[in-house]
Amino acid sequence: ARTAAVIPAAGRGVRLGPGAPKALRALGGVPMLIHAVRAMAASRAVSLVVVVAPPDGAAEVKSLLDAHALPGAGAGGTDFLVVPGGESRQESVRLGLEALPPDHDIVLVHDAARPLVPVDTVDAVIEAVREGAPAVVPALPLADTVKEVEPATAEGEPERVLATPDRARLRAVQTPQGFDRATLVRAHETVTGNVTDDASMVEQLGVPVVTVPGHPEAFKVTRPLDLVLAEAVLARRRL
Ligand code: CTP
Ligand code: MG
Repeated sequence: ARTAAVIPAAGRGVRLGPGAPKALRALGGVPMLIHAVRAMAASRAVSLVVVVAPPDGAAEVKSLLDAHALPGAGAGGTDFLVVPGGESRQESVRLGLEALPPDHDIVLVHDAARPLVPVDTVDAVIEAVREGAPAVVPALPLADTVKEVEPATAEGEPERVLATPDRARLRAVQTPQGFDRATLVRAHETVTGNVTDDASMVEQLGVPVVTVPGHPEAFKVTRPLDLVLAEAVLARRRL
C-alpha cells in the first residue's frame, strides 16, 4: 500500500492579513509550505507529495521545492508534483487528487497551514488506514466551551445562544487526514456544498470516520497570533 500526500496550499490567507499567499509566508526563514512538505516527506511511508499551489504560483512553488533540500527527494525516496489550485479548499484538494498516479492507494490530505505537525502524528494516521479504517482524522479535546448561535441579522446586533453541546463529546480535528483513496475520490465526486474538511465529505457518504490522537503542534496557522506561536515552537525545536 503506497501512500501519497496532497497538500492544499492555494489559499490567500485572508485572516492572516495582507502579504504573500499564506503558504509562501516565511516561518523561521523558510516558507510555511516547505515545512509542511518536509513534515509529510519525513514519514517513511509517504512516497509522493502533491502540492496544490496558488493558481498563478505553480512555477514559484516548483522552484521553492527545488531550492530547499527535502528529505528523501529523488533516489527512490519521496517524489514531488505541483498542480495549480482552485477557488475553494475542496476544489484544490480535488485537483490534487486528479493528479495522483494510479499506484497509491492511501491518500493523506494535509493543510500547508499546519507546518509543524510531528511525524509521529502522520505515521499514526497512516497506520490506522493501513489497519483498515477508510477515513482517519487526528483529533484533540477542546479547551473552550462551544456555543451554537443564531447568526446576527444586522451588524452590531448580539447573537442569540441556541445551545451548548457537551464539550466532552466534541473534538477539534487537524490534518493530515488519511483515506482509502477510492473512498476519498468518491466523496469528492459526489458531495457538494460547503465543507471545511475532507472527512466530513466521507461522513456524508455514510462511511465511518475514526480519530487518532492529534498533537498541539499540528495547530493551523490562521491568524497573526498563530505565527507568533509557530515561530516559538520552531525556535524551541532548534535549541
Ligand atoms: N486552500 C487551498 N485552496 C483554496 C483555499 C484554501 O488550497 N482555494 C488551502 C490553504 O492554502 C490552506 C488550507 O487549504 O493550506 C486550509 O485553509 P485555510 O487555513 O482557510 O487557508 P486560507 O484559505 O489560505 O486562509 P483564509 O481562509 O484566512 O483566507
Ligand atoms: Mg480558508
